[in-house]
Amino acid sequence: MVESEAQEEEEEDIRVRRLPQAIVIGARKCGTRALLDFLEVHPRVRAARGEVHYFDREERHNLGLSWYRGQMPLSRPGDVTLEKSPAYFVTEAAPARVWRMNTSIQLILILRDPVARVVSDYAQHVHRRVSKDLPPKPIESLVLTRNGDGRVNPNAKMVQTSLYHRHLRRWLRYFKPDQIHLVDGDRLVSQPHSELQQVEDFLGLKRHIRPEHFVFNATKGFYCLAPSVSSGRGKKRRQRCLGSEKGRRHPSVANSTLTALRHFFAGHDERLVQLTGRTFDWMR
Ligand code: A3P
Repeated sequence: MVESEAQEEEEEDIRVRRLPQAIVIGARKCGTRALLDFLEVHPRVRAARGEVHYFDREERHNLGLSWYRGQMPLSRPGDVTLEKSPAYFVTEAAPARVWRMNTSIQLILILRDPVARVVSDYAQHVHRRVSKDLPPKPIESLVLTRNGDGRVNPNAKMVQTSLYHRHLRRWLRYFKPDQIHLVDGDRLVSQPHSELQQVEDFLGLKRHIRPEHFVFNATKGFYCLAPSVSSGRGKKRRQRCLGSEKGRRHPSVANSTLTALRHFFAGHDERLVQLTGRTFDWMR
């Protein structure tokens, strides 16, 4: 057996399932899948395939840490194990639960224009209803108050998820600001490599991800992984784009509704800037 093969075999032997050192906690519809799939281009990143939902679903949390560890991929020493479950960000109980598992864990949070996020959530609602042969509800019934005054309902679920500063404040009761890395979702769309390099730095990984790893696919309207880029899912001859459920065409929304949403979120954007000390692409 040649030396490198022997070494590889030895490494295989020490592959085990480990609890994640970092978690992508959200936010829903902000680019969490793109972030995780693209990060896997890094040879030392190992990500759980699906969303694990250990910290937000009672019945899963009750299964205990050994169940959670079992959901993680095999990894070698020096690899970074990751999982993403965007529901964690908005779940009251999640920060304390994560903290009880590991007080020094690294958290990654990707955010995008809160109005675009609401519309993206609505696009998913439309898709789900149509695929079940049901008529979609008008967006107004899901995000505005019922009395017809055209105001945003701050308690509506789709609106709540975009109240980033509120949820983030809850996480900051348990974790230091330098434990939470913020990714600009709009910039992940326009220049994926630069956002991913910052994540590599945050995770303490040697920089590996380069602009050549991505190609812009005009049909999809998004960057995809370039052909022959190795990632957690192996090497592909053709470019690899995210599935059709990511980067959907958004349904058209009445201007008055969009204006109401923009008005509503403007104040919340300011609070996010105050809390994090940074601005995001959508605020410019
Ligand atoms: P839209 O479908 O509204 O465009 P999540 O994975 O958290 O559900 O986020 C989905 C969003 O990821 C998509 O929302 C899309 O805007 C964004 N995204 C970012 N980079 C992408 C990429 N390279 N390909 C497809 N979608 C991407």
